[in-house]
Amino acid sequence: MTAIRPHGGTLVQRVAQGEEREKLLKSVESLRKIRVNSWTISDLDLIGVGAFSPLQGFLNEEDYHSVVKSMRLADGTVWSIPITLAVEDETAAQLRVGETAALVGENDGVVYGVIDIESIYQVNQAEEAVHVFKTDDLEHPGVKKLFDRPATYVGGPIQVLQRPQPERFGEFYFDPAQTREIFQAKGWKSVVGFQTRNPVHRAHEYIQKSAMEIVDALFLNPLVGETKSDDVPADVRMKSYLTLLDNYYPEDRTFLGVFPAAMRYAGPREAIFHAIVRKNYGCTHFIVGRDHAGVGDYYGTYEAQEIFKNFTAEEIGITPLFFEHSFFCKKCGNMASSKTCPHSKEDHLTLSGTKVRGLLREGVCPPPEFTRPEVAQVLIEGMKEQIGV
Ligand code: ADX
Repeated sequence: MTAIRPHGGTLVQRVAQGEEREKLLKSVESLRKIRVNSWTISDLDLIGVGAFSPLQGFLNEEDYHSVVKSMRLADGTVWSIPITLAVEDETAAQLRVGETAALVGENDGVVYGVIDIESIYQVNQAEEAVHVFKTDDLEHPGVKKLFDRPATYVGGPIQVLQRPQPERFGEFYFDPAQTREIFQAKGWKSVVGFQTRNPVHRAHEYIQKSAMEIVDALFLNPLVGETKSDDVPADVRMKSYLTLLDNYYPEDRTFLGVFPAAMRYAGPREAIFHAIVRKNYGCTHFIVGRDHAGVGDYYGTYEAQEIFKNFTAEEIGITPLFFEHSFFCKKCGNMASSKTCPHSKEDHLTLSGTKVRGLLREGVCPPPEFTRPEVAQVLIEGMKEQIGV
């Protein structure tokens, strides 16, 4: 194990094995069923493998209110995003505290796990939205998702009975226990985690490599769960990461593994969550750049960094590495940020995400100072496949 302790002290392990699993599977027939979508299945699995340590299950009522209002579990442990199980009223009405229910995939009927129900409670979604997302605007993709779910939540410890099977890139799925072992086997004492839901452009590469100068290795940990529809699909991104790593990163100091969670777009609160989860995967450091996990104009450029001031270093446990907005400066002839570049905005190459997507869709590579040509080529091919050209 690497030196860094999991959040809360112990790496949670709630994937049922062997006889216990057989016993639970046999009991399922007599249990009430709760239908779960792919988002919830991913949360369930991440709880099961300990990525969300110290959570043992979906939040109970007391923890839920505490997390929403003060970014802590009821026992004081820092936790910023409510991980909850929303259940249709009709189903919820049949459930009782104290019983075990089966969690069944809504599309495939697979029993992914069971929950020991400890609380059934109604929530005020608008209040949750304002606390977690700082807005109740339905244009915000995270808020929209929240309001699309029922307002009755069921809490309690879970057991995973079936792991979701990745359709592609299965070789890049690692559980926290595995990444911890791998980092140790490689002799890495310090590892910086990098969250992304985008292709890795030059600014990402710049902040990753700046961080790599002071730690042993980079854990490139792209989020591949549900994202909003205009984000670049995960399989195209995966190809682009592999191309970039092959060409521009030292193999013995880089490790690629996916983070199969859904994107919440909760900006500052999600930055805390992302950092804590990467600690569970064994990272000692975590990169937070500009507008981390943000969307639109809902959050200030550095709010996701400032939020860390609410907690002590011991409470978070992983060291956040903050980076200013980075860009290519034509006068410097380099990647830079306002911390390192004395020139004016006119000398900086800036391209909006919309502009870059437009170029790629037309089959045009963005300038190499923005995206490596090899990466741009993969993205162009990916876009073509997507629109069926
Ligand atoms: S995120 O939603 O996963 O945060 P993205 O993949 O764009 O989005 O960002 C990954 C990480 O890189 C985040 O920490 C983000 O703050 C940082 N980042 C993205 N672009 C820049 C930039 N130009 N300058 C500095 N940091 C950046």
